[in-house]
Amino acid sequence: MGRTRCFEIVVFVVLGFLGSALGDLQLGFYAQSCPKAEQIVLDYVTKHVPNAPNLAAAFLRMHFHDCFVRGCDGSVLLNDTTSTSAEKSAPPNLSLRGFDFIDRVKSLIEAECPGVVSCADILSLVARDAVVNRGGPFWQVPTGRRDGTISKASEALRNIPSPASNFTTLQARFASKGLKVKDLVLLSGGHTIGVAICSSFTNRLYNFTGKGDQDPSLDSDYAANLKANKCKTIRDNTTVVEMDPGSFKTFDLSYYTLLVKRRGLFSSDAALITDSTSRSFINQLLQDKLSNFFADFATSMEKMGNVGVKTRTRGEIRKQCAFVNS
Ligand code: HEM
Ligand SMILES: *[C@@H]1O[C@H](CO)[C@@H](O)[C@H](O)[C@H]1NC(C)=O
Ligand SMILES: *[C@@H]1O[C@H](CO)[C@@H](O)[C@H](O)[C@H]1NC(C)=O
Ligand SMILES: *[C@@H]1O[C@H](CO)[C@@H](O)[C@H](O)[C@H]1NC(C)=O
Ligand SMILES: *[C@@H]1O[C@H](CO)[C@@H](O)[C@H](O)[C@H]1NC(C)=O
Ligand SMILES: *[C@@H]1O[C@H](CO)[C@@H](O)[C@H](O)[C@H]1NC(C)=O
Repeated sequence: MGRTRCFEIVVFVVLGFLGSALGDLQLGFYAQSCPKAEQIVLDYVTKHVPNAPNLAAAFLRMHFHDCFVRGCDGSVLLNDTTSTSAEKSAPPNLSLRGFDFIDRVKSLIEAECPGVVSCADILSLVARDAVVNRGGPFWQVPTGRRDGTISKASEALRNIPSPASNFTTLQARFASKGLKVKDLVLLSGGHTIGVAICSSFTNRLYNFTGKGDQDPSLDSDYAANLKANKCKTIRDNTTVVEMDPGSFKTFDLSYYTLLVKRRGLFSSDAALITDSTSRSFINQLLQDKLSNFFADFATSMEKMGNVGVKTRTRGEIRKQCAFVNS
């Protein structure tokens, strides 16, 4: 094989890799077709998120759920239909809130340029802008996602890991989306903000193995405190608990500090210190500066935002985020 030919092949392979890594998304996809779109999102977030700061966590989680079921295609935003129960109806969905906020952003953008900007892109942008508004990391959001037409609660249950998951399950679910252990560790860092409903972890406090016992991997002082002051019964599905107590509004490293103190709230959080690779990523994060976490989190979010996206002629641009076009 001649040297030129060999070079061509290398270029081809490298471009192919870049192409598949970035998908068909591109920064500023709407620069010509709807130049104000990203600014409309940012303005709306800047105006309203300070009055409802907890929405930042809600949107971050909503984006994660969207991407893990049929790719980041806005399927999490769809309502139940007469025949199917949608993703948003799959329990536990306490934090899947803020749908009306997304709907309002969508109608502002529709008024500017009808039928151009997808709900999937709006959700991706809102999640990023809301996190930045609360002092969290910035990440790039290339756009060009199109909206899916199918949303099923059963698929949410199959794809989104349960809080009771062990490391093997978490690793497998993330791998099935092209995400590595490093991404799992970093993206779980999203739990540095937000809240959880008691019933997502009370098994660890009251009935871990079905013998009325407590999870031995959970710090016993912390467990006692949760039982006495927060989650008084195993069935409590109304009380909410800060996942990163004392700093649940701040995007920082304290989630990882808690993990190594055996104070991760879910089994899925605790699982991250049971694997040596994962554990060493955590140790590294704790040794580094906050800015390293922010930069690495951004890289993983960009990967997550690219999972299974529908571009070009696939999917549609929904008119309303809760309904497919008829
Ligand atoms: C690794 C597997 C994960 C599991 C098992 C998991 C599980 C959960 C559960 C059970 C809740 C509480 C929901 C409720 O009580 O209704 C929650 C909240 C949350 N999750 Fe995760 N999660 C995971 C990964 C992620 C990822 C990748 C992100 C985003 C990068 C994320 C961001 C959040 C946020 C921000 C909240 C708080 C929501 C709020 O305050 O409204 N989680 N998660
Ligand atoms: C769609 O679902 C949301 C949230 O579940 C609900 O608030 C809204 O009323 C629904 N919209 C319609 C038109 O049914
Ligand atoms: C959350 O799930 C419950 C139980 O499945 C369901 O009744 C409720 O409507 C869901 N919430 C939303 C916003 O769809
Ligand atoms: C992890 O959980 C899965 C699903 O519940 C189970 O089949 C598997 O045996 C568990 N693995 C370990 C190492 O405990
Ligand atoms: C604990 O789990 C066992 C086995 O699933 C069940 O029989 C028992 O009723 C549970 N106890 C409580 C307090 O929920
Ligand atoms: C909470 O639990 C009660 C009783 O177990 C149940 O009837 C209700 O539907 C649950 N609510 C939610 C939001 O899951």
